[in-house]
Amino acid sequence: MTDQATDAVLRIEDLHVEIRKAGHATPILRGVNLTVPVGRVHALVGESGGGKSMVTKAATGLLPTGGVITQGRIVLDGHDVTRYGEAQWRPLRGGSVSMVLQDPLTALNPVRRIGAQIMDVLRLHRGLRGAEAERECIQLLEMVQLREPARVVRAYPHELSGGMRQRVVITMAWACKPRLIICDEPTTALDVTVQKQVLRLIHRLAGDGQGVLLVTHDLGVVAKLCHSLSVIHGGRILEEGAVEQVYAAPRHAYTRALLAATPRFDQPGHELLPVSDALIDQLMAEARDYDRQRAAMA
Ligand SMILES: Nc1ncnc2c1ncn2[C@@H]1O[C@H](COP(=O)(O)OP(=O)(O)O)[C@@H](O)[C@H]1O
Ligand SMILES: [Mg+2]
Repeated sequence: MTDQATDAVLRIEDLHVEIRKAGHATPILRGVNLTVPVGRVHALVGESGGGKSMVTKAATGLLPTGGVITQGRIVLDGHDVTRYGEAQWRPLRGGSVSMVLQDPLTALNPVRRIGAQIMDVLRLHRGLRGAEAERECIQLLEMVQLREPARVVRAYPHELSGGMRQRVVITMAWACKPRLIICDEPTTALDVTVQKQVLRLIHRLAGDGQGVLLVTHDLGVVAKLCHSLSVIHGGRILEEGAVEQVYAAPRHAYTRALLAATPRFDQPGHELLPVSDALIDQLMAEARDYDRQRAAMA
């Protein structure tokens, strides 16, 4: 193995995934290569339906029913997990990888207090109990800059705002000290100011030895918070590289189209703007044209 290979918390090579249903196989990922280096935030960008979530599901052993890896390799925290079954995956979740999803409510138990849920994670993954677990719980909530952590600990999920809940979910993902945190559109459900706070928090998490895979369709976010990115469309990686390199000289027409619609990170004062649905429709039309041209040339 090369140095580069050992310094990655996640390495996906030529990954092909299809979904088999009622005798039909639909290709979803068609040769995805992607690396998340240690201590870095790597972005996976592309519009809806491109395969972003499917990559995160493959990398956490959570492919949907009928989902099959037909080719390629996934190496997570040094484990070749390509053929892992559920029993082999279970000990890796939390320790090697944890996930932050778009909707924090799906990750929280509605009838248990926040403190109890965080302490469950601390007991299960780090063996902390009693006063020690409580102390660590408060410390983690302070770290994610939740005001009044003592109140949050006693609250039920519905008593917190969306932004607070997402911080709690990040706390729970972080509490296990995983090597890799995967955040799939973590701020889509939040308002713009809270989005920024949550994204800054995610950026801070990429400390020594940890990597973050941030899934987003917002290239403004990528410019501000990520080190490198991969652009996915139609289940293929179209382009990848360091953020400055890709933004300065995008090689792919699709990336150029995405960038043309994004506030420039080298022009201070630009705010993070969500990409509009109309723009996404336009980009999808351009991408389809591109696919047709490529198919015609092949
Ligand atoms: N459970 C499923 N069964 C069948 N097809 C699915 C399933 N989940 C996603 N897909 C398909 O896989 C493709 C990629 O989806 P996804 O990874 O969710 O895209 P993204 O996260 O980029 O929006 C889409 O065409 C979607 O329709
Ligand atoms: Mg998705």
